[in-house]
Amino acid sequence: MSARGLDLAVTKMTEAGVPDLAIATFARLYGELEAGKTGLIRESEVAPLTGIDRQADLEVSEEQIAETLAATVVIKLNGGLGTSMGLEGPKSLLPVRDGATFLDLIAQQVLAARERYGVNLPLLLMNSFRTQAESLDLLAAYPDLPVDGLPLDFLQNKEPKLDAETLEPVSWPAEPDLEWCPPGHGDIYTALQTSGALDTLLGAGYRYATISNADNLGAVPDGAIAAWFAASGAPYAAELVAKSDADVKGGQLVVRRSDGQIIQRETAQTYPEELDVANDRHVHPFFHANNLWIDLVALKDLLAEHDGVMPLPLIRNVKTVDPSDKTSTAVYQLETAMGAAVNVFPGARVIEVERKRFLPVKTTNDLFLLRSDVYELTEEKHLLARTAAPLISLDGTYKLIGDFQARVKQVPSLVEASSLTVEGDWHFTAPARVVGEGVLRAEDDLPHAVPDGATITAHGISTSNET
Ligand code: UTP
Repeated sequence: MSARGLDLAVTKMTEAGVPDLAIATFARLYGELEAGKTGLIRESEVAPLTGIDRQADLEVSEEQIAETLAATVVIKLNGGLGTSMGLEGPKSLLPVRDGATFLDLIAQQVLAARERYGVNLPLLLMNSFRTQAESLDLLAAYPDLPVDGLPLDFLQNKEPKLDAETLEPVSWPAEPDLEWCPPGHGDIYTALQTSGALDTLLGAGYRYATISNADNLGAVPDGAIAAWFAASGAPYAAELVAKSDADVKGGQLVVRRSDGQIIQRETAQTYPEELDVANDRHVHPFFHANNLWIDLVALKDLLAEHDGVMPLPLIRNVKTVDPSDKTSTAVYQLETAMGAAVNVFPGARVIEVERKRFLPVKTTNDLFLLRSDVYELTEEKHLLARTAAPLISLDGTYKLIGDFQARVKQVPSLVEASSLTVEGDWHFTAPARVVGEGVLRAEDDLPHAVPDGATITAHGISTSNET
């Protein structure tokens, strides 16, 4: 293995001005990469979460809410590159409804929460070098957004992608920017320190952070959960959602039997013969929404205990140096996940929240649904589901955002649909509706237009006098 690889990476980071703590955090992960750590956890070592607090049962006073929210900051993770959807800029700049982007809706949700609760509630984006300029440009359209001289964002760190064969920093002279990546959302703990944002927030009297993905428009500022968190005195809390049959999600939070600490167990940390149990929703009933609450004072103390280097487990992400060219050099990106910090905050708590707080856009299927009439926008810019969400399954033709945008100009009505499966090159340019289990199949590779006024059913497109 490669001590040389680490030396080269450290030199490259130092030359690029990456802060020392970020370099130390990267070096720790590099050590885990070399040690080939797996961190496997036996089912018998853990217990499922049961009897946890529920959002639906919370009883908190208006006073508690106002008091907590006056000391709360909303942080949105906005540094990801959205490579699985083929994005080159921030995912949050994609239009979602009536031309409004994720970021517009986030800004408007925060402004609406300020009105509703009568508080200041700052918004802070965690940006990466790839997402900062464009995102701040968009927020400039909201002159009332900045609060108390706080910035609107803080910048996460960057690290070199490693050549998967040599474990040395990859070289890509054609586009040197592609030699770097953000280190996953677990970098938030490092970035809050290295950017100075943590001290700025504490200095301005902020105590709590509500943190969620910019691509989850369901994670709106919530006064009752905030008050619950503050009253719990916990340093950290994670929002969980009850699984339905359709949720085959791998990782979950579990209770470590030896000391009662809540910990995260990823699919990769599960023994293959125990996967059935780990995925059984009757045994492990919740999944992690990646919506977190953090006591900033407790975070500062915890970081000090660990010399500023959060001991989060390594996620070794295998990609190509140029994400749009699958034949380019294979690289490892050393990442960590924000939610893995549950392991290291003694006394971390969880709360079961309503499913509407989990509305992530990971694929173009999700975007198709979010743009449809299944959702309506409330005055506070919350997305409200009118009906149960149908299962959308667009084929590979639509996977990348450019191909999707070129084909989907107008999402058909989905309120009467239970599912929609699309195979082939269909173009949605005029009003249409899907009823029941809609299916569109093309026998060839040619483009096909969904006709104006079409009804899509299990039998394909039917003409208006058939329905
Ligand atoms: P994902 O894990 O879905 O990653 O991020 P992604 O970057 O959006 O998508 P892929 O994997 O490249 O396709 C969840 C949230 O965490 C943020 C993202 O912006 C998204 O809101 N994120 C992710 C960061 O802020 N920084 C990171 O380094 C990674």
